[in-house]
Amino acid sequence: MSETSTQPQWQEVSHIDDIWEGEMTGVEVNGKKVLIINADGDIHAYHDRCPHQQWPLHDGDLSEGVLTCAQHLWQFDVTTGKGINPSTCQLHKYPCQVDDDGTIRVSVE
Ligand code: FES
Repeated sequence: MSETSTQPQWQEVSHIDDIWEGEMTGVEVNGKKVLIINADGDIHAYHDRCPHQQWPLHDGDLSEGVLTCAQHLWQFDVTTGKGINPSTCQLHKYPCQVDDDGTIRVSVE
């Protein structure tokens, strides 16, 4: 009988020097679109599609901890992914980490 692993499968996606504070970028990890955000030095990873109509969130605007979708201006708190307007939506968050050497890793499993 095989045992199912619950350990995250970390994938290298970027380096902390390549995403400055207040910046974000879209990457693809194992075929999944992932949004990487540097919010005041804290790295967050979300599914890179708006829950409204699947617009790429990395084309949006990032300002003062708020991510605004470029298409119809839905807004999200970048630290939690929770909707601000409308408040009922929620971004899918992926586990992420920054290694001691600044490598950013994400798990999409
Ligand atoms: Fe993002 Fe409509 S697709 S607000």
